[in-house]
Amino acid sequence: MNTILGIDVGASGIKGALVDLENGKLSGERFRVPTPQPSTPAAMATAFAEIIDYFDYKGVVGCGFPALVKNGVAQSAANIDKSWIGVNVEQAFSAASGDRVCVTNDADAAGMAEMRYGKGKGEMGLVILITIGTGLGTAIFYKGQMIPNTELGHLKWNNGKSVEQYCSSGARERLKISRKEWADRFNEYLQHLELLFSPDLFILGGGESKFFEVYKEQLIVNARVEPAKLLNNAGIIGAAAYAAEVK
Ligand code: BGC
Repeated sequence: MNTILGIDVGASGIKGALVDLENGKLSGERFRVPTPQPSTPAAMATAFAEIIDYFDYKGVVGCGFPALVKNGVAQSAANIDKSWIGVNVEQAFSAASGDRVCVTNDADAAGMAEMRYGKGKGEMGLVILITIGTGLGTAIFYKGQMIPNTELGHLKWNNGKSVEQYCSSGARERLKISRKEWADRFNEYLQHLELLFSPDLFILGGGESKFFEVYKEQLIVNARVEPAKLLNNAGIIGAAAYAAEVK
């Protein structure tokens, strides 16, 4: 069995599980620790190592990280401590855990998992996956090939702020708006993405994907819209798949 530990680092929680890469399923329980606040590199590296200890795991670890990541280095920090910018995440997490850690953007990881094992399997057109959580993460695929680090959650919206401040789950909670109002806002965002990219399929992941049945009628675009098959586990599964690919 080809099993790798996948860890999805988020702004509010760090979640890990062993992933069976033959079938893209978790091969056991998930373990979660809250993301330390402030989410500095040192505090997060300690929390990250705790997950590895919990599984008593030795080997290559895959990690999805909630920022733009290039060659292992964080280039942005919208929802984590700003001191992450310029830090080599792979080195920080590898040093704290003693294992080799391969790091990619969290939405790219989730997208990779959905394309391989979920709703994107066999899709040869243009697919946009959006993770809806504290932030908005995006991954774009064409003919199965990903364009990494797309960051479409940071398109400038009405007031010049990032669109993730208008219609992420984090924004819904912060602004105390109903899920119905949130879905109308999110629909505006989908319509804008459709205008820009003409996708064939939108896949919605992250925590908000669990409520898809509640708001799906409010999403009015020509492209198909589907909740992620792997729901909130897509980030963990994709992180493991990424590590298997680059290790
Ligand atoms: C970050 C992205 C990330 C997304 C979801 C955004 O604020 O810029 O890199 O994928 O949040 O975590």
